[in-house]
Amino acid sequence: MTPQLSLIPLPANSRLTGHSLRLSRDFPIRFLTNTPAVQEVVETFLEMLKPTANLQPRVVDHDAREHVGLSVSLTSANTGQGKESYTLSVDEKGVSVSASTTAGLFYGLLTFGQMLSADDARSDGLAIPCLEISDCARFCWRGMHLDVSRHFPPAEFIKKYIDLLARHKMNVFHWHLTDDQGWRIEIKRYPLLTEVGAWRKESGGQVYGGFYAQQEIREIVEYARRRFVTVVPEIELPGHASAALAAYPEYSCTGGPFEVTTQWGVFDDVYCPGKEATFQLLEDVLSEAAELFPGPFMHIGGDECPKARWNNHELCQERMKAEGLANADELQAYFVSRIARHLRTLGKRLVGWDEILDSGAPAEATIMAWRNMQKGIEAAQSGHDVVMTPMSHCYFDHYQGKESEPKAIGGYTTLETVYSFEPVPTDLPQELARHVLGAQGNVWTEYMPDTNHMEYMVFPRLCALCEVLWSPQEARSLPDFLDRLKHHLRRLDNLGVNYRRLTIL
Ligand code: ACM
Repeated sequence: MTPQLSLIPLPANSRLTGHSLRLSRDFPIRFLTNTPAVQEVVETFLEMLKPTANLQPRVVDHDAREHVGLSVSLTSANTGQGKESYTLSVDEKGVSVSASTTAGLFYGLLTFGQMLSADDARSDGLAIPCLEISDCARFCWRGMHLDVSRHFPPAEFIKKYIDLLARHKMNVFHWHLTDDQGWRIEIKRYPLLTEVGAWRKESGGQVYGGFYAQQEIREIVEYARRRFVTVVPEIELPGHASAALAAYPEYSCTGGPFEVTTQWGVFDDVYCPGKEATFQLLEDVLSEAAELFPGPFMHIGGDECPKARWNNHELCQERMKAEGLANADELQAYFVSRIARHLRTLGKRLVGWDEILDSGAPAEATIMAWRNMQKGIEAAQSGHDVVMTPMSHCYFDHYQGKESEPKAIGGYTTLETVYSFEPVPTDLPQELARHVLGAQGNVWTEYMPDTNHMEYMVFPRLCALCEVLWSPQEARSLPDFLDRLKHHLRRLDNLGVNYRRLTIL
């Protein structure tokens, strides 16, 4: 790949063919396949092009006798490279992007978009080297997570975040919507979840919080759909429930009262599985949430649930006896299996953090391995699909440098560490590798008070992760990546992204 193109993620196959194409600033776009779905993809692409380049491409008739431009076609040919694959060819007659799916077309157009750097768009147009690219995704789950409970970014930022994911060919946004420090999704049936649970009283009498109204969520999900990003909502249970229990203490073991917590950590008061009403609450919440998120997955958390209350609560002990459960860990497995059963009735697949494996997870559960890779290996060995998101490589709340970094939660996960990540462990038997759907970067926001800071922690580590997830493993090279990244950062500048500066230049 020529350094001046600086494509990120690196395409699977690309070949320069000599010469270059000069495109005018108002180059024409021709649809060789003209369906509403293809038009929509091109519209989205043009929207995404706006902030980055001084260009005004125009859609023209198929037969228009025009100077060179872009042609877009949906082909029936299945290349065998997966549903997100595309080909992009640039010769002296023009640029053509073709794919067998609209997702493939979208990714082909994004690659083309990266070639249209604003810096090069001079008044007489810009030059693009002639080339052939044939590209496809390595993994189907190319995710980024965002915790909106500890700090609350407005809906506009969520769109910016999703847009930036899409620009890096990432396709899953894991939206961590509930936690101890704030409940962030409007649930009409239980209004106190947001009236009470979305707000915390900080020291000095300040009230901090907010939530996303259902209409905002619908707009965000639609915005994501147009960028081929699936939104996976997380409604955390049985632990990390302080905000919900501040609103409705009757679903705890002790009955409360509770406050939406202002400290970070893990708290003993969690949902009570001894009470049937707790399941009713959570099923109602999940049913209402499911209507907002058309994607196949719902994440139910499952991590860091202390068992102190359950061990000392008569109703929980009765539940364990009635269900033949040996201990509180099995009670957690019972909790999760009941929730999974409900999600099945909603046509949704359960995703949970790796603790849900500890006493046996529902067979169809997808496991997010966060404590370490071994948890992911165990998940795959038990027949579960797994998304790798180990603290060692994928926690973007960790420090990314040794000096002069803003206060972070801890850890040390550099850009180079992220780039070195391999989601499929070498000791995972070949036949189990198919269970590894991909990986994801996690962004816990305890120490990220505003969106500027969130961007700083995410970029440029996301750029490294997207290449891990999209590009062939054997094509990865750190020096080559860093070389391309230097140019790519100018794209981030044009998009108004606050990223950590590179120390190796
Ligand atoms: C986690 O970081 N507690 C999933």
